Amino acid sequence: MTPRPHPSAHPHGEIREVLPGIYFVTGTLKMGPGIRFSRNMVIVREADRLIAINSIRLGDAGLAQLEGLGKLTDVIRLAGFHGMDDPFYKERYGAKIWAIKGQPYIAGFDIHKGKPYFSADVEIDATTELPIAGAKIHIFGSTPPEAVLLLARHGGALVAGDSLQNWGRVDPYFSFLGGIMMRAMGFIRTYNVGPGWLKQAKPPANDLRGLLGLEFDHLLPAHGEAVLGGAAACYRPSIEWAAKRCS
Ligand SMILES: [Fe+2]
Repeated sequence: MTPRPHPSAHPHGEIREVLPGIYFVTGTLKMGPGIRFSRNMVIVREADRLIAINSIRLGDAGLAQLEGLGKLTDVIRLAGFHGMDDPFYKERYGAKIWAIKGQPYIAGFDIHKGKPYFSADVEIDATTELPIAGAKIHIFGSTPPEAVLLLARHGGALVAGDSLQNWGRVDPYFSFLGGIMMRAMGFIRTYNVGPGWLKQAKPPANDLRGLLGLEFDHLLPAHGEAVLGGAAACYRPSIEWAAKRCS
């Protein structure tokens, strides 16, 4: 393992409480020169602890707001293509980092290339006891592995990485070029199965169909706006379409 300097903080919004005890913050992912788009972090309150999912490094004002909410004790990585800011939270707060088994921390999108710069404290599999009471993990046997996390609260709140997205519009965290590129590639759509993830990570059809058995009312995605209420029905058509495509 070869540690690397932490990536910088980029512009983000305020931390908003979207459901009681569940917070959402939208920030920036810088892909390359002139190409930026948005991503989200979810923060869950569990008694006096905070757990971050799909971590985004916040700037000073954002960290002050986070610290005002409580102590960040754990970070859960769901997306095989995210995770770059997890080491920052480990260093800053001594948070325990949880990643899905088989997700390496490497630069770039090819898990067979590149040296790891970090390793998680816990590798999650289907039997792992999670740091949020009652939460369930659904793992996709994709390359790299990916997961969604079902919180047993408010009728079921499903937290997703790149698998289930909800970019209904190009938001202010997109650059002009980023917006053109992502629209052309089919990302700007509500209740969407992530097109880049489908193409590159190739989730097995059965793991996609497994989503249809999860009971959730809300969807908190890494990309796009939160879906509050009726989320499972909203996503059913695109999940069925994606499962057929991957069969
Ligand atoms: Fe992503």
